[in-house]
This record gives sequence, structure tokens and C-alpha cells, in this order.
Amino acid sequence: MIDTIKEHIVQVEKFSATSVQEIESFRIKYLGKKGLLNEFFKEFKNVPNDQKKEFGKTINKLKVLAAEKVSTLKETLEEKGDEKSVNGDLTRPGEPLELGSRHPISIVKNQIIDIFSRIGFNVSEGPEIEDDWHNFTALNLPEHHPARDMQDTFFIQTDPDLLLRTHTSSVQVRYMENNKPPIRTISPGRVYRNEAISARSHCFFHQVEGLYIDKDVSFADLKQTLQFFTTELFGKSKIRLRPSYFPFTEPSAEVDVYWGLETETDYRMTKGTGWLEIMGCGMVDPNVLENCGIDPKEYSGFAFGMGIDRIALLLHQISDIRLLSENDLRFLEQFKSAF
Ligand code: PHE
Repeated sequence: MIDTIKEHIVQVEKFSATSVQEIESFRIKYLGKKGLLNEFFKEFKNVPNDQKKEFGKTINKLKVLAAEKVSTLKETLEEKGDEKSVNGDLTRPGEPLELGSRHPISIVKNQIIDIFSRIGFNVSEGPEIEDDWHNFTALNLPEHHPARDMQDTFFIQTDPDLLLRTHTSSVQVRYMENNKPPIRTISPGRVYRNEAISARSHCFFHQVEGLYIDKDVSFADLKQTLQFFTTELFGKSKIRLRPSYFPFTEPSAEVDVYWGLETETDYRMTKGTGWLEIMGCGMVDPNVLENCGIDPKEYSGFAFGMGIDRIALLLHQISDIRLLSENDLRFLEQFKSAF
């Protein structure tokens, strides 16, 4: 019996293979459930006691050798496979480099920043989790002020003083607290409102708010600045300012741009009027200046705020605001040619 095993040891040592199948049948022959090794192990109990030790040693040697053989043969076969792929078809064209694209929100945000930076505005940013003072109170919205309901707010449950900012006017407060006039800054960023999600509104969106504070800033300066902006962004210079209300500005206005009524899309977008509402604005309320440590007798200023998402929908003729946050590559890849 021992001699048979020894013969197998010699055979295993000599064995070589060129295919996966050959290695597999070798493995099954020796190491499989019904393989030779198990057969030999079963014989163990019939071996006379004085030979058991040598018998055991010999089977173990066969087992180790067979297992080693299988793994080394597999390895050499895989290495050969790799070589083959390296030496494959060298005339094949290279894999094209995938080009990413900017998100439409970023594209429009950068356009807006670019336009305002040309007339001396810098960019300021602030936290998305805000305290009551910066989002409301400093902006002339003390506790229980009814206008707080104009923007449905997400509060942070563990701390009644904290909330998700409802507008980036909070950044303007921070900027005024930390900088002396003249101030010319725009504040882009994400804002949150507890609104039902639909094709036209979402519970988070993006804004750019602007602030200009200096001596003798007038409403005419505001209108000129906004007209420059609409001409640069939309190619439309006709705007109108409708009286409106915001707690932090006085007087306040809603800005409409004349889009025109040339195509059917223009009719649909403007509901047949030709006019599109694009932002809110006004002269900064003296109370707000005072709250932020700026003397309203010496300085005046204007502020404005617009939604980036809405403008992106307009400029790119996107029908559903939800597309902007769904990360669907079929949608996002359409912006490859934009900058
Ligand atoms: N903060 C206002 C909003 O979010 C927009 C605005 C900004 C209006 C500045 C007037 C002046 O709706």
C-alpha cells in the first residue's frame, strides 16, 4: 500500500498541465471528495499498528504535494494569460477618456458670479445651519413677526435657536458684521424651505443674493445694476420693478424681465404676458444696517436675491426642478458642451 502511495508522489511531482480543465481533473483525482487521498485515509484503519506512523506521514506528504501542485499550476497559467492580454492587439484604438460635465446649477452660478465680479462684487459664503439672529432677527424679523411665515422653516430639533437657512441674506448679515462699507458682495449658496416637492418647487434650492452699501447709494443705482445683469445674462435689457414687500428692505420691489413673445415657448413661459419674474430687491432697511453695526445716517444700500434653480430651468428649458437633484447621468451629460 505504502508503495502505491509513493508511486503517486512521484507522479504528482512530475505532473504538469497546460489548461484549466487538466488542472481541475488532477485536483478531483487526488483531492476531490471521492479522490485517491480520501481512499487512502479510509485504508488507514486496516494498516497494522507498527506501520501506521509511516503510512500517515506518506499520505500527508502526498496531500501537501498535490495541493501545492494545483496552486502553482494555476498561478503559472494565470500569468501566461496576463502576458497574452499585454501582447494583444496593439493596433486597437485607445480607450477614450471620459469627459465630465458641470452641473447646470454650477454653470449658471458661475455665470452670475462672473457678471457681478466685472462690476466689483466679491463672493461671500456662510453656514447652511444658521442661528435665529442671522436668518431672521437681524433682518428686521423679530420673534413672532408674521413675515417669518413667508418662508417655511426647518428647525433643528435639539436646539430651538438653530435652523436650516431659508435664504442667503444670512450671509449678508455676517458680512456686514465683519466688514466696513463700502461693501459689494454676492452670496451664492444652498437654502432650505419646508415646501412640498413638485415639478416647480423643492425643499432645497440655490440662491444668489447681492448687497451694495456705501454713501449715497440710491434706488437708481439698484435699477442700473440689475439692468446690467439681465442684459449680460439673458441678453434682455428691458426690466420693470413692481412694488413688493420684504421685511429687510424698504422700499421693496419684484423684478420682472421682458422676455418677449416671439415663440410659442415664450408664450408658455410668460403665461402670455411676455414678462418673467426673476428676483426680489430693495433698499436695505435702516434697522438692518443698525443691527449689523453700520450707521444708517452715514450709509445706505441695496440688496437683491434670486433663485439659481429657476434661472437654470429658464436658460436651459428644463421642465422639472427635480431633475436638478436626481443625479441622472442621461440628464447631466447634456451639459457637456456648456462651460
Ligand atoms: N431674501 C429674499 C428671499 O429669499 C430675497 C431678497 C433679497 C429680497 C434681498 C430683497 C432683497 O426671498
